[in-house]
Amino acid sequence: MRILRLLAFLLVFTTVSAQQGGMWIPSLLKGMNEKEMKSLGMKMSAQDIYDVNKSSLKDAVPHFNGGCTSEVISSKGLLLTNHHCGYGEIQAHSTVDHDYLTNGFWAMSMAEELPNPDMEVTFIVRIEDVSTKVLEGVSGLTSEADKQKKIQENITKLTASLPKESWQENKIRTFYEGNQYMLFVTETYKDVRLVGAPPSSIGKFGSDTDNWVWPRHTGDFSLFRIYAGKDNKPAAYSKDNVPYTPKHFFPVSIGGVKENDFTLVFGYPGRTTEYLPAVAVEQIVNSLNPAKIEVRDAALKVADGFMRKDNAIKIQYAAKYASIANYWKKWIGESQGLKKTNAVAIKRSYEKDFANWVNKAGKQEEYGNILPEFEKVYKEIAPYALARDYFTEVVLRNTELLTMGYRLYQLEQVYNARGEQAFTDRRNNLVPAMADVYKDFNKTVDEKVFEQLMAIYATKSPKQFLPAEVLNQDYSKMAAEIYSQSQLTNYAGFKELTEGDAKTVIAKLNADKGYKLVKAMAEAYAKNVSPKYDELNLKITALQRNYMKAILELSPKDARIFPDANSTLRVTYGKVKGYEPRDATYYEPVTYLDGVMEKYVPGDYEFDVPQKLIDLYNKKDYGQYGENGKMPVCFIGTNHTTGGNSGSPAIDANGNLIGLNFDRVWEGTMSDIYYDPSICRNIMVDMRYVLFIIDKYAGAKHLVDEMKLVGIKKK
Ligand code: ARG
Ligand code: ASP
Repeated sequence: MRILRLLAFLLVFTTVSAQQGGMWIPSLLKGMNEKEMKSLGMKMSAQDIYDVNKSSLKDAVPHFNGGCTSEVISSKGLLLTNHHCGYGEIQAHSTVDHDYLTNGFWAMSMAEELPNPDMEVTFIVRIEDVSTKVLEGVSGLTSEADKQKKIQENITKLTASLPKESWQENKIRTFYEGNQYMLFVTETYKDVRLVGAPPSSIGKFGSDTDNWVWPRHTGDFSLFRIYAGKDNKPAAYSKDNVPYTPKHFFPVSIGGVKENDFTLVFGYPGRTTEYLPAVAVEQIVNSLNPAKIEVRDAALKVADGFMRKDNAIKIQYAAKYASIANYWKKWIGESQGLKKTNAVAIKRSYEKDFANWVNKAGKQEEYGNILPEFEKVYKEIAPYALARDYFTEVVLRNTELLTMGYRLYQLEQVYNARGEQAFTDRRNNLVPAMADVYKDFNKTVDEKVFEQLMAIYATKSPKQFLPAEVLNQDYSKMAAEIYSQSQLTNYAGFKELTEGDAKTVIAKLNADKGYKLVKAMAEAYAKNVSPKYDELNLKITALQRNYMKAILELSPKDARIFPDANSTLRVTYGKVKGYEPRDATYYEPVTYLDGVMEKYVPGDYEFDVPQKLIDLYNKKDYGQYGENGKMPVCFIGTNHTTGGNSGSPAIDANGNLIGLNFDRVWEGTMSDIYYDPSICRNIMVDMRYVLFIIDKYAGAKHLVDEMKLVGIKKK
């Protein structure tokens, strides 16, 4: 009976997972992936996606500013990414008179495109396996710390010595938790100009309420252009630079998508942890996520209260609020999803299988202690991990006075470790950088946040690690005192504190009430938490590497084992597909402009709709982009994506651009830890909606003319 059940489980598990999930290395698609992609309907070959000798899709997919993904969509370097990825640049060019965030921005000629001093996009030239070279001389070492040191030395040497052109860069990244190392030769373009952005009421439609949610109706896109020197090579900004000529650009399909169509998403997923043991997932669900959620919950409630009453505060806190709310909401969805899918139980059952494989292969000595060791170390690290998350969320992330104070604490540390010159250099960088932070800082809001978060910190973070200054206080009184006396509550005070030579500054700092508290908290953390946390975490790293090695070695032959995301270029693929979020409910895979109008709340900051869009809707004036009298907006698919995949191209069976990735569905936000193909979906904007907005809404038809459209319906 038990065997039967196990067999049934395995059968379901392998058939379902057989075609879904995974973020694959583009240079290694030949074989299993290529076969699978073709069986899903792909018409291209693995070589069309990645090739070193001739142009391929990868040449059109640069990393956008190190965080998001983007794609080239014309022969003149026109670049597409999300609105939320270009948000900082759009905001930077906005003033009260030219409020591009609110009204949108469209360059009507190249001369009107706006330069962005701190922006860059990075292309991958080629990818090579350098594992043997990186691991040279490592196997003889016994201590984990020595191994890590040797690996770092090898990486530094290889990065400097492996062949590349003078304008290129070498980067080495680890895959499969230290079991494989890959070299990436890259080219970085630094003259990237803003070309177009819809108003936020389109590009951010639905805002935080709709974030991580399907059905979705957001036109989350913006346009840039890459400029190069006259030789087409990377060059610093110059008005004499010319539009970049890409090795490849995506044709844009207006042929439309329907359920079960093949899709491929190509981009730079940031970080996943798909191979954690059950005990680690348990810790996330029961302890770490709830802690982080509780802190952010309190911080967001305070900010929201002020933002609703005061428009100036709303503007000051809009970006900060969105960023804190993004992962707050993600963790809530993630915990729910992990519970609902029984991720821990499934991992436990997988671990039973794993133990059997180890026994059968006679590898007890090598791998037999991994799982019991995991149990032990995770139990041991639990309070330290919790203390670390509380410290990060309360001090480093959500109470700004403490965060600013911590920067000064680091400054004092720099002086102690490296002396006057290092101190001066760091101070001179820090002080101007803080101007922007203080511009959006409100003392009254932060004081309330402080009061709430300190109370949580003192009662919920493991007490044995906390300093006396924090425990058993009247936090309202403490807040009132610090926020009336500390110089950290305004930029003038901050500047005054940091004026003078190191000795003077440090004396002033240590007389400041706010600084003294941060210092006490930081020192307690540095003494009571981080050394032990680091020591245990190093053990976990070593165990995880060995676990991964065993999984690679002992899994059934047809197992699909992909490396965790690490901000390198990956391919994920699947189909356009709806899903069943709960009993008797089915979500269709495509949304339409009708849904925008259903959600429309005039004047609302999340659900307002621009008049021009309403007019186009009423006239059904969709041009060649509509479908049977309707305007498609977003669609979902079974592509396995994560943070960093925002802005990634969604590509059809023939290599044409059909969508732009920007989010995932609520029920599937746990996919970073456990991917369940029945409910994990990525969300994309339909390219037809993007073109419709550019052409019909913004009147920037010249940009559409620059692209190569395919799939045009015959009249
Ligand atoms: N959830 C998406 C991703 O993680 C979009 C975030 C931007 N939007 C927002 N409302 N905060 O990044
Ligand atoms: N919204 C995410 C991003 O910005 C994508 C995701 O997490 O699905 O990269």
